Amino acid sequence: MRVLDVKGLTYNGTLSSIWKPALRSAHGSTIKVRMIMYQDELKQEIRALLKERNAVLLAHNYMRDEVQEIADITGDSLALSMEAAKTEADVIVFCGVHFMAESASILSPDKIVLLPRLDAGCPMSDMVTADGLLQLKEQHPGVPVVTYVNSSAEVKAVSDICCTSANAVRVVNSLPEQEVIFVPDRNLGRYVASFTDKTFHFWEGFCPTHERLKTDTVLRLKAEYTDALFICHPECSPEISALADHVCSTSGMYEYCRNSQAKRFIIGTEAGILYRLRRENPDKEFILASPGLICPNMKLVSLEDIHAALKTMEPVVKVPEEIRIPAKRALDRMLAIPRD
Ligand code: 13P
Ligand code: SF4
Repeated sequence: MRVLDVKGLTYNGTLSSIWKPALRSAHGSTIKVRMIMYQDELKQEIRALLKERNAVLLAHNYMRDEVQEIADITGDSLALSMEAAKTEADVIVFCGVHFMAESASILSPDKIVLLPRLDAGCPMSDMVTADGLLQLKEQHPGVPVVTYVNSSAEVKAVSDICCTSANAVRVVNSLPEQEVIFVPDRNLGRYVASFTDKTFHFWEGFCPTHERLKTDTVLRLKAEYTDALFICHPECSPEISALADHVCSTSGMYEYCRNSQAKRFIIGTEAGILYRLRRENPDKEFILASPGLICPNMKLVSLEDIHAALKTMEPVVKVPEEIRIPAKRALDRMLAIPRD
């Protein structure tokens, strides 16, 4: 892979031969124009390759703007899992992080699942291992395990049912037992627990991106924009959720902001959400609650990576059958529950 750094612009990828001379000789302003033209060319090539490979491009709501722009489907973790389970395509290009591509592989074993950046992981998902969960299960025999989809296939395989931020309350309430083990997100777990009278055993995992949002930052913004509604993701800490007018999944935010009469919103989740919020609501203002709300893993996937993945048909994510079958059971149980 080539890296070209010109007048503050960093470009990672393979340059199309058409633009090479222009990039070598041009001044800063010209380069910006050329980069835009190059992006358009790249997008066209990606669309053509998607057709050629009979591939579908799924992108999470946190992806870079230009990736969301060319996706066939953008959505939250639940919507993308549902799509992966029912698509007719031969190939799924998953623009998200590793556990999402694994879920697609679990649900669609006959399809080729490409994750354009294999190094796009999720630190929260890495905070729990199957061995660690088995030890917790031993301490609470007979208690069902509810596992947030932000987890590895191995962890899902030793779980009873999965959930996402869009259906977690429903999932927990669907269980007949009065006790649950909830992994790995302590913040989502505590948020869900506030809607039920069940006893929870939490795993102390968290999302480093959402945990960066602090109460004093939110209070300052609320004081500055008194007319704004504050909306946050349940991966935020309980103190932050307590300050929110609404707590929901990423796709829940689109719906809430679309239907709300308010004109201004303070957004407590990853910055990628702003792309569609602003595009779908041009008359409304969206303020990111903190500049720290950027997930470095979600931001890894570039157009160049997608193009390369479709050209080489790599990197492939494939979950081995002995893990896939039990993990699918937990995902299928979740998918049988309607979304909020
Ligand atoms: P949702 O899109 O399901 O709300 O998930 C948020 C998230 O952090 C995914 O990594
Ligand atoms: Fe993981 Fe948080 Fe990034 Fe989502 S935003 S992928 S939970 S680190």
